[in-house]
Amino acid sequence: MVNEQAQPVLEIWGGNSLKGEVTISGAKNSALVLMAGSLLCPEDCRLRNVPDLVDINKMSQILTALGVKLTKNGHTLDIDARDINPTKAPYDIVSKLRASFFAIGALLARFGNVRIPLPGGCAIGARPVDLHVRGLQAMGAQVIIESGIVHANVTGSDRRLQGANIYLDYPSVGATETLLMAATLAKGETVIENAAQEPEIVDLANFCIAMGAKISGAGTNKIIISGVERLHSVDYRVIPDRIEAGTFLVAGAITQSEISIFPVIPEHLIPVIAKLKAIGCQVIAEDSDRLRLIPGALKATDIETLPYPGFPTDMQAQFMALLSVSEGYSVISETVFENRLRHVAELQRMGADIRLKGHHAMINGVPFLSGAPVMATDLRASAALVLAGLAAQGKTIVRGLHHLDRGYENIESKLVKLGANIKRV
Ligand code: EPZ
Repeated sequence: MVNEQAQPVLEIWGGNSLKGEVTISGAKNSALVLMAGSLLCPEDCRLRNVPDLVDINKMSQILTALGVKLTKNGHTLDIDARDINPTKAPYDIVSKLRASFFAIGALLARFGNVRIPLPGGCAIGARPVDLHVRGLQAMGAQVIIESGIVHANVTGSDRRLQGANIYLDYPSVGATETLLMAATLAKGETVIENAAQEPEIVDLANFCIAMGAKISGAGTNKIIISGVERLHSVDYRVIPDRIEAGTFLVAGAITQSEISIFPVIPEHLIPVIAKLKAIGCQVIAEDSDRLRLIPGALKATDIETLPYPGFPTDMQAQFMALLSVSEGYSVISETVFENRLRHVAELQRMGADIRLKGHHAMINGVPFLSGAPVMATDLRASAALVLAGLAAQGKTIVRGLHHLDRGYENIESKLVKLGANIKRV
């Protein structure tokens, strides 16, 4: 447990309106998996627009422990995964960074054996990896899990995975990514049915295709991969972070401010834009990669989180803060994770009128929230508390910044630039 007293906190004085434009960083959930994907390649890879985040640094430590040579210049990462040992993933870091587990697919595809710690559960749920494991077994891997470590290897003379037809019981983002990476170097064809369709899957597929992989259907629920012998160098730019973009759109809505966000890919934000409009805001495309939020009187709406292209679970907490001050009665249903409503108690501390019933939150909009000392419980919950603090009357102290820094690059300096009264003390 982190000793909260000694840790920095965010001090927010609510009520300021915001204005101007905020620069959106590269997508955390794409950059992390592309770093794992670079393990497929025995030549130099270059990743651009990599956000500067705690999780990225942790992933870099894991790759380095595997023997990867990494050079970071600002937001550009040069990766040399020529000589690596696939059994050296460090237990303490991998068990805290779920995305690093996805490397199992790349390591198994390239080396035929891998030892990697199970990712731990976290605040939002148990986070099992059964879909990853079952898919790899379908491709010919033997998988043994003991004392928190996953040992996987491919028998047979050439120790190569075999393409397979895999149906995912749930369109898991991570399982789709693990199996897509594994299939790029497997013998023959792999079909992933009921695949996840998130933009980060498409980014991973485009990255692998740029390295010479043969993949079609990424972004749909059926992905077909024809294995190749070897992949080659790539210089690739990570897509903008749609969740950071959505978070800043909500910052505009909750403070009733007109702000712009750039760069973005508007089609990645369709469910978020649809809900902002339902709540009473306008979202205008100023050009192909710039959006402008025009606030309006906030009114209640219902939200159910679903796999893409449904409403993203990673935006649920942020909309909970917004709906807390939207007139009327809203219902939010969290269907993706079993324990991702822990920010409700903290928002209640700020005066939000929310009742929990199972995985539903019933929200009665109140005219305003009041600043209070609150504790972040997970990454997106911490973002929600910052948003609530921006709109609340008085001072909010947000503790648990180690969650926030995992997924948002310099969030307070970006907010100060927009005119927010927020500082890290
Ligand atoms: C990715 O996690 C993201 N993380 C999460 O973002 C995001 O919330 C999630 O996808 C859903 O969009 C990264 O990309 C690093 P899942 P992932 O596998 O891959 C169950 C953030 O805030 N499941 O789609 O772990 C699982 O328990 C983070 O940036 C199994 O049962 O999500 C969950 O209930 C949080 N067995 C559901 O599927 C499995 O083998 C969705 O999980 C795998 C998953």
